[in-house]
Amino acid sequence: MAKSKTQYVCNACGYETQGWMGRCPSCRAWNSMIEEKIETATTGGKPSMRKNWVGDEGVVALTDVAAEAKSRFSSGMKEFDRILGGGFVDGSLVMVGGPPGIGKSTLLLQICNLIHKEGTILYVSGEESKSQIRMRATRLGIDSPSISLCSQTSYEYISEIISTQRPSLCIIDSIQTLYSEELTSPPGSISQAREVTAGLLRIAKSLMVPIVLVGHVTKDGTLAGPRVLEHMVDTVIYFEGENSGPFRMIRAVKNRFGSTGELGFFEMTDTGLKEVENASTLLLSGRPINAPGSVVTSTVEGTRPVFVEIQALLSPSSFTSPQRMAQGIDRSQIGMLLAILEKKFSLGMNNFDAYINVVGGLRIDERACDLAVLAAVFSAYKDIPVRSDTMVIGEVGLTGEIRPVDQIERRVGEMRHLGFSFCVVPGANRQALEKISKNIASNTRTNTPEHAILSMPEFIFVDSLSEAIDVLFSFDNVKQSTRGAK
Ligand code: TYD
Ligand code: MG
Repeated sequence: MAKSKTQYVCNACGYETQGWMGRCPSCRAWNSMIEEKIETATTGGKPSMRKNWVGDEGVVALTDVAAEAKSRFSSGMKEFDRILGGGFVDGSLVMVGGPPGIGKSTLLLQICNLIHKEGTILYVSGEESKSQIRMRATRLGIDSPSISLCSQTSYEYISEIISTQRPSLCIIDSIQTLYSEELTSPPGSISQAREVTAGLLRIAKSLMVPIVLVGHVTKDGTLAGPRVLEHMVDTVIYFEGENSGPFRMIRAVKNRFGSTGELGFFEMTDTGLKEVENASTLLLSGRPINAPGSVVTSTVEGTRPVFVEIQALLSPSSFTSPQRMAQGIDRSQIGMLLAILEKKFSLGMNNFDAYINVVGGLRIDERACDLAVLAAVFSAYKDIPVRSDTMVIGEVGLTGEIRPVDQIERRVGEMRHLGFSFCVVPGANRQALEKISKNIASNTRTNTPEHAILSMPEFIFVDSLSEAIDVLFSFDNVKQSTRGAK
């Protein structure tokens, strides 16, 4: 007989405790404890879904184990393959997370249609009826008999279907709607999500069927409950940014079969998600030209450079401690940068609320954009624009020194091609940049499209914040150019 007992689980991090607490001691979230009934181990009952999927319980020497050759197949979308590390791996469990309405179901349905692999694709939806999915498919121009639909939420039923059908890919939309009849806790609870994911992991590995789970993320950016699932699955992919504009970004935060950090870019159109090849062009489209408070910088996402506009707005503060709001960049980084600016220029920043925004919903997780943020703030303060054909790159140290940035070669490519004539860069990156410029100059075929992309802007090397501000805001120091930014 199964015994049940009550426990409390944190909805945000999965921390378990016997008694209720107002605040989770692990992740410090308030009011996140949810009561759950759990079944204790049974003797003679149904086998646990968590049973070992490896099949053999024995211990073997490392050298006696045959290395598994990973067989991959393409998702049919270059951007999605890049995130997966080259395509779906047989037997892998992938979780695709994102806020409701961002395009998870749309993307996965499109992928079902693009996969060129023998066999059927099973699309299990616990959220939409079959006819609703058909309507969406028709809208997306999808009409393939190799896609099988199933509107079910019972884990036992779904596992049976996967075992008998053996599809070449299975999509589960979403993990929060699935429940196991063996457990008494309600669908969407952490115990259910955890047990069902463990069961699906066992099925994926034993039948070598790749399974994609959809997971809904709450407003504050955590997967509702299933954040605790991240360690179980092989790959975790999140949709980033807002779902108000047409731009969508996906990123792998964990990947057992490839690298993380790569970003995939898509545009939501009326016929579904379209891959975006040159994200910089899209991110900079509609950029105000020569507007105070707007500066462009170059970040590196995985292996690609992405140009983004950083905007700053200052307004007189009516609070004793001024507001610091940041979108797409860490707020503590902004606090530190404003303190450096204050120390160097005594602008009275304490009298201003500061709003910093990375345009397009991109999140920058590196320090190479420090100088661009400060240039945007200074520009907003003085109401003087930074020339819009100027790119600003550099990390700013606490004493106001400009520190070198990594992957400078990647960051500066394509600048000229996109209409940037000048680039303010750290002096410490001089050697690397001069080497590239020399290599390009020695290339005699100057009128090829490759050369247009590779040709460099004029570099302005700076070693301190004061020097950078001097260069950016005294126009005589920057040669006037007739070339306008696109
Ligand atoms: P959806 O894939 O249902 O989101 P999720 O599964 O992440 O909750 O996407 C829904 C949104 O996408 C909806 O607001 C409408 C929009 N959309 C389009 O703009 N074009 C399309 O072709 C489709 C199918 C959806
Ligand atoms: Mg959906």
